[in-house]
Amino acid sequence: MKKIYITTPIYYINAAPHIGHAYTTIAADVLARFYRSQNREIHFLTGTDEHGLKIEEAARALGMEPQNYADQISEKFRELWKHLDIRYDDFIRTTEERHVRCVEDVFSRLLKSGDVYKGFYEGYYCLSCETYWTEKEILPNEKNLKLCPNSECKKPLERVKEESYFFKLSKYQQALIEHYQKNPGFLSPAHRASEIVNFVKSGLQDISVSRAKVKWGIPVPGDSAQTVYVWFDALLNYVSAVLESKTSNPSGEFWPADAHIVGKEIYRFHAVIWPAMLLALGFPLPKKVFAHGWWTVEGQKMSKSKGNFVDPYEATREFGVDSFRYFLLREMPFGQDGDFSIEALRRRYNSDLANDLGNLISRVVEMTDRFLGGKLPTQSDPEKHEYPRRWAEKTPAIQSAMENLNFSEALSIIWSVISSLNQYVNEQAPWKLQKTSPEKVEPVLFNLVWSIRIVMGWLEPFMPQTAAKVQAQLGIRQLPRPVTAEEVLAGKPTASHAILKAPPLFPRKTKP
Ligand code: ME8
Ligand code: MG
Repeated sequence: MKKIYITTPIYYINAAPHIGHAYTTIAADVLARFYRSQNREIHFLTGTDEHGLKIEEAARALGMEPQNYADQISEKFRELWKHLDIRYDDFIRTTEERHVRCVEDVFSRLLKSGDVYKGFYEGYYCLSCETYWTEKEILPNEKNLKLCPNSECKKPLERVKEESYFFKLSKYQQALIEHYQKNPGFLSPAHRASEIVNFVKSGLQDISVSRAKVKWGIPVPGDSAQTVYVWFDALLNYVSAVLESKTSNPSGEFWPADAHIVGKEIYRFHAVIWPAMLLALGFPLPKKVFAHGWWTVEGQKMSKSKGNFVDPYEATREFGVDSFRYFLLREMPFGQDGDFSIEALRRRYNSDLANDLGNLISRVVEMTDRFLGGKLPTQSDPEKHEYPRRWAEKTPAIQSAMENLNFSEALSIIWSVISSLNQYVNEQAPWKLQKTSPEKVEPVLFNLVWSIRIVMGWLEPFMPQTAAKVQAQLGIRQLPRPVTAEEVLAGKPTASHAILKAPPLFPRKTKP
């Protein structure tokens, strides 16, 4: 059966990974974990983009060979993913043999078919974006200064005139528009779709796909004076990582990809150029190309000059990995922009995690310990499973939010249940029942323990460590994986059948 294939961009290695890279990768991990929890087979790919002038220059600045430099920085990404509990299935590097061969083969195929041809390029070039720009594309108020039209960049452009290979992007304009129209979910979220459709409708020009100046790249087959343009090279990672053996065709076990998740600044590459390349190759198009928004930091764009890149190690030091994962997906809806600050993280931590979730768990564990001697409550009469079952009925809404990559919506449903459970504790007040009608205490605690079990199954993709700890506290050693109420309620606590007391999951944190 075809696996669900989810990708992140492959990240440039000209700098250490920061919160932006962590964001996309965590989101993809949450989606992958969600599908795994549904018993679906998953292939989750991430990796590093290692060719191009920027990387060559970063290596030179350190007096290193590009390949040694690439080995070193690429490793930093893998280390960070381990720290952040990212469970990827494959990590691709564009300097790997499997990738280089695929790029060479694809380039040769397109040369042969005529979709790639040799021409002459004259215009402007942005070193930072590794992008050619035409006079027409430069913003009117920046005409004299010749600044890069990419609003995230705006660096001075260089005037160039050189031989180059071109990809016949213009030929695919109509086919792209038709594809967008026939497949409404392909461009997501919807507000990004209209930007792309308008851009394609306004006309597409052929694009340069080789560089004469860049040495650190894959040589154009049969023309050692040129290397393959880093974006043409990089986009192919999604295919080169899942090749059918001994070919440069993607294997049907994985392809087409189900979701390419990328930041909004590289959406055109993924929503226009990439599908056109696939059309030229005769490969099926991915199911969904999703552009998420950007984080600013304390209201500012992250930049080298400001030196304000948020280091994910720093951001997880005080509050932990799960809190960071939670914050990123809860604080701003996926697809929108938002602002990161340690203060905002602290607020979410104290209110959602320490107060709502942490309190609920510690109260239930405490009460089970105190009133039931630490033995987990049981209830063999299925008629009396009605309370936890009502929460399990929220599963379809959470599933549908997850399938639409609406992570903040899923979390907000989960938190509404957590808050109902806290309210239930307050209303039932087992500490009072214990005095007035002690036989009612165990049924109340049963309802709470089994409801929390359901909640942890929903939460596991977001907060894997927390879900595992809570399960352990509630005497359940298996991975949380509730799908239906029946499954949850049929599951019996394993191992000790006893509650495990542990320090608070999220001790309140005040400002140092
Ligand atoms: O573009 N907020 O790599 P890259 C949110 N190698 N996400 C952010 C972010 C921010 N402030 N900053 C970066 C490249 N990102 C190419 C990709 S794919 C075939 C080649 C995330 O290292 C976001 O996912 O510049 C963005 O798309 C990615 O990092 C860009 O990483
Ligand atoms: Mg970038």
